[in-house]
Amino acid sequence: MRHAYVSVEGIARRYPGATVFEDLWFGVNRGEFVCVVGHSGCGKTTVLNILAGLEAPSAGEVIVDGQAIEGPSLDRAVIFQGHALMPWMTAEQNVGFALSCRHRGWPRARLREAARAALVRVGLEQAAEKKPSQLSGGMKQRVGIARALAIEPKMLLMDEPFSALDALTRGVLQDEVARLVAEADQTAFMITHDVDEAILLADRILLMTNGPEARLAEIVVNTLPRPRQRATLHRMPGYHALRDHILEFLITRSRTLAGAPPAGWDPRRVPELRPADAPAALAAP
Ligand SMILES: Nc1ncnc2c1ncn2[C@@H]1O[C@H](COP(=O)(O)OP(=O)(O)OP(=O)(O)O)[C@@H](O)[C@H]1O
Ligand SMILES: [Mg+2]
Repeated sequence: MRHAYVSVEGIARRYPGATVFEDLWFGVNRGEFVCVVGHSGCGKTTVLNILAGLEAPSAGEVIVDGQAIEGPSLDRAVIFQGHALMPWMTAEQNVGFALSCRHRGWPRARLREAARAALVRVGLEQAAEKKPSQLSGGMKQRVGIARALAIEPKMLLMDEPFSALDALTRGVLQDEVARLVAEADQTAFMITHDVDEAILLADRILLMTNGPEARLAEIVVNTLPRPRQRATLHRMPGYHALRDHILEFLITRSRTLAGAPPAGWDPRRVPELRPADAPAALAAP
C-alpha cells in the first residue's frame, strides 16, 4: 500500500472506555475519488479529521506523498457539512482569504482576480459581493467548494458536503463537483450517506461496519464507466447490482459483520469487490 498517494496505515481512535475503530488500512491513489459509507457513529468523520490533520490517531499513521501527516495543511482542503464561511466576509473575500494563505506574496488585485475566477467556476459570479447571510444554503456550499478548489489542494476532503441541502440543489452540486473534480484530476475523499452520490462520484467505495470497534469490511470498486450523469446513472449496466450491494451492506451486513473480525481477517487486505461486473448485473434492467 506504500505506493498509494495517501496511505492509511493501521490507524485507530480510542477514547477512555471506547474504541471507535482499530487497525484501519487503506490507500487512495493520485486522481482517485474514494467515498466512505457507513452508519452514524462508525467513525467516518474521525477518519476524515485524521486525514485532514485536525485530529491525531491513537495509533498508526497516514502517509501522504511519502510524508507522515503531522497537522493541517493547505495541501488538503476540507469541505464541511456546514459551509464554515466567515460571516463578515463577502463570498469573494472568503475565497480570497484562503488564496492569500496559499499564496502569501500575491498582491491584492491578483487575489481578487483568482477569487472571482473560482466563483465563476461554481456559477457564483453574481454573488461575489454578497455575505453568507445573503446567500442560500446551496450558494454558501458552492462558495465552500470554490474556496477549497481555488487553493488547488493535493487532496480534497468532504464530510457530507451536500447533506444539508434540498434534493434539487444537492443534485446540481453533485454534478458540479463531478465535473470540477474530473477537470482537475483531483484526488478526493468524501463521506456520504447517499448511495447514489457515491455511485456517481466514486472510483472506490469503502464500506464500514457499525461502531463501536468499526472495521473497514469491504471495498467496492465502481466499474461504471465515466462520464457518469445523475439523470442516466440508473440505466447504466451494472448500476442496480452495485446499488443493491451497497444497500444490502447498509441494511444487514454493516450490523452482522460488526464487532470482532472473522478468523484470519487481515485488515491490510480488505476484499475489493466489483459488484457491477457480476453476471447478475448484466441481466439487470
Ligand atoms: N470525546 C469522546 N469520547 C468518547 N467517544 C467519542 C468522543 N468523541 C467522539 N466519540 C465517538 O466517536 C464515534 C465516531 O464519531 P464520528 O463523528 O467519527 O462518526 P461518524 O461516522 O462521522 O457519524 P455521523 O454519520 O453521525 O457523522 C462516535 O460513536 C462518538 O460517540
Ligand atoms: Mg460524521
